Parts: sequence; C-alpha cells; structure tokens
Amino acid sequence: MIKNKIIDEIQKRKCGISLEKFIDICLFDNEGYYETSNPLGRSGDFITSPEISQLFGEILGLYIHSLWHDKYKEKFNLIELGPGNGTLLIDILRITKPLVNFHNLLNIHLIEKNIYLVNKQKQNLQLSKFDNINIKWHDDFINIDQRPSIIYANEFFDCLPIRQFIKEDNNWYEKNVNFNKKTKFFFYQHSLVNNDKILNKLAKYKKNNIVELSEHRENFFRKICDFVSKSSGSIIIIDYGYSEFLKKFTLQSVFNHRPSNLLDNVGKQDITSLVDFNTLVDIAKNYNFNVDVFCNQKEFLLANGILERKNKITKNCTIEQKKTIEDDCDRLVNEKQMGSFFKFLILSSNGTTN
Ligand SMILES: C[S@@+](CC[C@H](N)C(=O)[O-])C[C@H]1O[C@@H](n2cnc3c(N)ncnc32)[C@H](O)[C@@H]1O
Repeated sequence: MIKNKIIDEIQKRKCGISLEKFIDICLFDNEGYYETSNPLGRSGDFITSPEISQLFGEILGLYIHSLWHDKYKEKFNLIELGPGNGTLLIDILRITKPLVNFHNLLNIHLIEKNIYLVNKQKQNLQLSKFDNINIKWHDDFINIDQRPSIIYANEFFDCLPIRQFIKEDNNWYEKNVNFNKKTKFFFYQHSLVNNDKILNKLAKYKKNNIVELSEHRENFFRKICDFVSKSSGSIIIIDYGYSEFLKKFTLQSVFNHRPSNLLDNVGKQDITSLVDFNTLVDIAKNYNFNVDVFCNQKEFLLANGILERKNKITKNCTIEQKKTIEDDCDRLVNEKQMGSFFKFLILSSNGTTN
C-alpha cells in the first residue's frame, strides 16, 4: 500500500520527510495518482485549457508555426512535456496541416510518464488521422536526437513536487510530513534547516517569511535548457504561477473535484502548486536564452488572434454552438477565470553553444 511506503520512508528519518518526497510518492509512485488514473478532462479532477476549447491549441499552433518559420525553417523536433489526452497536440497538428512543409519537417517527441495517458494519446492521435507524422514516446527527457527543437508544456511544471520553508526569528524551518502511530494520521512538523546548500538558496529571499523551492522543477527545466542550448530552439512554458513576492503558500490538492486536505487520500488526489517563473527565467539567463514573451494567458491569446479565430469558427454555427464556443473562449481569457492566473513564458536560445 502506498500509505505504508510513505510510513517506511518517514521511519528512516528523525524529523519526517520533506513535502517534496511526500508529494513525489503520492503522485509518481507506481501506485500514485499520475501512474494509475486519468485525471484530465471534464470528468476528471480538473480541466486544462486545451480540454476547454480547441481555440487554445489552434492559437498556440499558429504561434509555433510562425516561430519555426522565422527562426528555424528546417527539420526540427516538436517536443511536448506531459501531453495529457493529446488534445493540445491534435489541435496544433490540425491547424498547421495546410501550412507548407511544416508537417514534413516535423519529428514529434512526447514525454509522458503515465501509461494510461500514453495509450489515450495513441488512440486519440489515431482517430485524428494525420498522415506521415513521426511520433516517439519517452518517459524522460533523454534519447532525443539533437536538432533545432521547439519544446512546449501546458500545466506540466505545476505538478512537480515542492518544499516549503518558513522564517521565524531569523531561522528557517522546513515544513515536513510525519506520521502519528497512535492516531494513524500524517501531520506537519517544522524542522530547523541546517543544510548549507538550502540555506544559501533561502538567503536570496531576504524579504520573504515563506518560500517554496522545487528541485524537481529546477532540475527538469535545466535538462531542457541543456538540450536546447546544444542545438538551438525555443521553450514555451504555460502554467499557473507567479513572478512576484510569495504572500501565501500555494500547494493545493483536489479530490473528486473538491479542494481537499493534502495529507488525506494518499495517491488518489491531484496535488499542484504555482510555478515560480522568476526561478525559471534566472536559470534560462544562465544559458544566455532570450525571453521572447512573458505575459498572462489573456494577453498572449488576444495578441495572437483568439477573438478573430473564434469569430471565424462561429460563423456557421447554431446559436447554442456559438454560445458554448464563446463561453469557453471567455473562460480562457477572462481575468477572473484563467486569463491572468496562467502565464506564458517563451524563451529562445541564441544559437549553438557547442
Ligand atoms: C496536469 S496534466 C496536463 C496535461 C496536458 N498538458 C493538458 O494541458 O491537458 C500533467 C501531465 O504531465 C504528465 N507528467 C507529470 N509529471 C511528469 C513527469 N515527471 N514526466 C513525464 N510526464 C509527467 C502527466 O501524466 C500529465 O500528462
């Protein structure tokens, strides 16, 4: 049982395990949330932008095409991190199908850990009937041929585990997870941080009393930056996140469509946290990448023609169909819904470093 695996880990240590370890087991253990279920779509625990409206993938697809046309115009890798049901890729492929040479020069690589979702992606792509498209699946970011690459990810980095820290009387404490053998419940325990590497990282946050750090996120992001810096390319990260001062912790869990207690329903609930975009930008700057775009979802989608596309596809619709498309489009761009919370970060390499 997954709960026993966590208890075993806790018993190896004095002060419990980090939240990062706890979340990693809950989500990515072979009995974890992302390994055993399909969390996506209208019947899942949450719904993502591509699952809300085809307009999202179409606008991203046209943007990716123009990026490729302006910067690369040759054989390239299109790499998606965490493709879910494959909906975003299918919308990108459909809108770019008539565009000269794009599909012919495309090598698609999908990075997906969840076997259930890999099968779903295969089924959905087969139903969409794109001819002569070369697609490979990977469960990690390795073994992909070096060539110019456009890498994109929607709601991928928010599911990578984080750690939480609190400053009290000038000391930093980490919020760990421990287990009470009598009550049989997990509980939070704060332990003094004395690891120099972590203290050095925390020293950067002089004005904050709380900090979230994610080695998983940073390491994964560094891997893709390393890859792109070797043969040029662009990285598009779309996620809900922040770039300002962190006022409150952002970790949240959802069980059966409802906010839940993070320490309950082990392995059966979704756990996410907001992405710290500043950290990603700092890492990218170490690779000398350009920040082409950093804006919210509303700004990106409006600037790239979502309303014009919506007007085009609703022209011959019934009144009911038009209303659904308009409501879904509003959900993507409305600042009270997904418009401001979700951010687009687009980075491009300055050419080859090798
Ligand atoms: C929140 S879902 C987003 C799905 C899709 N991008 C969308 O927008 O609908 C996260 C996706 O990332 C995958 N995933 C999460 N962590 C992963 C990891 N470490 N390696 C590979 N895939 C991962 C999940 O299985 C899932 O497909």
